[in-house]
Amino acid sequence: MSAVSKNEQSGFTVAIDGPAAAGKGTISRAVAAHFGFAHLDTGLLYRAVGAMGGDPVAAARRLSPEDLARPDLRSAEAGQAASKVAVIPEVRAALVDFQRSFARRMGGAVLDGRDIGTVICPEADVKLFVTASPEVRAARRLKELRDSGFATDFATVLADVRARDARDAGRATAPMVMAEGAVLLDTSAMAIDEAVAAAIAAVAARR
Ligand code: CDP
Repeated sequence: MSAVSKNEQSGFTVAIDGPAAAGKGTISRAVAAHFGFAHLDTGLLYRAVGAMGGDPVAAARRLSPEDLARPDLRSAEAGQAASKVAVIPEVRAALVDFQRSFARRMGGAVLDGRDIGTVICPEADVKLFVTASPEVRAARRLKELRDSGFATDFATVLADVRARDARDAGRATAPMVMAEGAVLLDTSAMAIDEAVAAAIAAVAARR
């Protein structure tokens, strides 16, 4: 049996966690493309719930794929709103089943977020914790935001990164923490293609 057909039967899961703007998104997309896995950016779920307004628990329970396609979900405001609704246990609970069934899909899956290796898929085949210094992450996020047409400055983005780190790591339910057995990938001094290569190597080593 080839590696691909074996994988199609086993639903190989890659869990990628880490703080804001550490490179999780780029790394997750590249790992998914390399191995032919599906990718779910779980941050989008929380961003959509935050952006929908009204009662966040009701919003999480009725979340649909169209809500994830809103054009404003990448803004800094949507990120802050996401981390505020993400502290609510009932919001998190409403999103668990969708994430778990995505993780188990045939053909393999990469999920990135904050609690994938700890809460959503503690049994994941590979867990990565991708991080970088707050300053490096703020510089990367500033470039991303400017490239997407959002006007902002370094100090504002750094403050945003620090505020979200504190909220995400300090919450009682599913705090952002490196999962047991995770591979730590500190991308502070790495170019993005080096970080991607390191992640692909970590996944390849466990297949
Ligand atoms: O892209 P970035 O890393 O800035 O953020 P994101 O992954 O889109 O996540 C936005 C916010 O959603 C985070 O700051 C977390 O508060 C929350 N989140 C979470 O609690 N659990 C996840 N699995 C993913 C995101």
